[in-house]
Amino acid sequence: MTKILVTGGAGYIGSHAVVELAQAGFEPIIVDNFVNSETTVLAGLREILGREVPCYRIDCGNAEALHEVFRKEGDIKGVIHFAAYKAVGESVQKPLAYFHNNVGSLITLLQVMKDEGVENLVFSSSCTVYGIPDQLPVTEATPTKPASSPYGRTKQMCEDVVHDSSQAADNTTHTILLRYFNPIGAHESAKIGELPLGVPNNLVPFITQTAAGLRDKLTIFGNDYDTPDGTNVRDYIHVVDLAKAHVVAVQRLLDRKASEVVETFNVGTGHGNTVLEVVKAFEEASGQKLNYSIGPRRPGDVPAIYADATKAAEVLGFKTETSLRDALASAWKWQQSLVR
Ligand code: UD1
Repeated sequence: MTKILVTGGAGYIGSHAVVELAQAGFEPIIVDNFVNSETTVLAGLREILGREVPCYRIDCGNAEALHEVFRKEGDIKGVIHFAAYKAVGESVQKPLAYFHNNVGSLITLLQVMKDEGVENLVFSSSCTVYGIPDQLPVTEATPTKPASSPYGRTKQMCEDVVHDSSQAADNTTHTILLRYFNPIGAHESAKIGELPLGVPNNLVPFITQTAAGLRDKLTIFGNDYDTPDGTNVRDYIHVVDLAKAHVVAVQRLLDRKASEVVETFNVGTGHGNTVLEVVKAFEEASGQKLNYSIGPRRPGDVPAIYADATKAAEVLGFKTETSLRDALASAWKWQQSLVR
């Protein structure tokens, strides 16, 4: 079996990718420092897969520890680098921590991969690199705009690091940059899912916690945007669909099918939904009435963004399979499994 190192493999998207990789016949190996994930995830993975997934509790900024993992495992063929800080608001308060962790760990990882002769990298980028786009939907060729937060800037900087290092005469790394839109939902088994620490920042965990009675009500951040119903538009992709994009990307790198040394793909559904549409779809999927009210805009929110998913469909053969409603149903099932 082909070994793939998954940094941040105990995190929300990472854990779902571990499942899809294993089920596609790869041997995922997790590296995670567990600063924003729980070791209970490993039990969930064991239950889904019926076997233990190897996991190293190390920080990706620690080159020596990474070297040891590569040496110990021996024949790792590729890396999916999820490990990063991801809270937009926190990044405004702790920008240096974000630059140090997100950009620093990528630089360390690239150097270690080069030294160890590991050539294939899939990197977790984000639609946040587009800033406030002039045109919708955004294609991979849509010019990036200033990011609205230090978090967003780390994703732009990481893309630059990948591009610049790929131009070096002695470069050996082949990279696919996946620009995620908004991942939601959980594995159908409800054994793994999103585990926000404290009050969730993201919409769907806030919705499910409100429906479960853990929060009084959802505040919708503004209804005076230039969108169909005045609330923000996002492209919500089921996390299992998103996880599957990584399997296809890794396979493409291993098969040396990539047309360039760095390739970039949007990973979204290609459809935008407003916050109110998400609320309505959640109510339908869960049979729960949601308590919500309209509040002021959240600073830094992009009014509307959704993917043109054509390139991923044509080049990777990747298409999402799960509807918004089913994705929300999976999020609700996961929330209920946590409350019990
Ligand atoms: C942001 C980042 C994205 C990052 C993600 C991870 C930007 C532009 N996007 O996504 O790159 O990967 O966080 O954390 O920086 N909302 C409410 N009430 C709430 C929570 C959210 O109305 O209580 C609304 C927001 O205003 C937004 C939508 O729901 O319109 C989605 O918000 P959220 O889930 O936080 O994701 P983004 O901000 O789109």
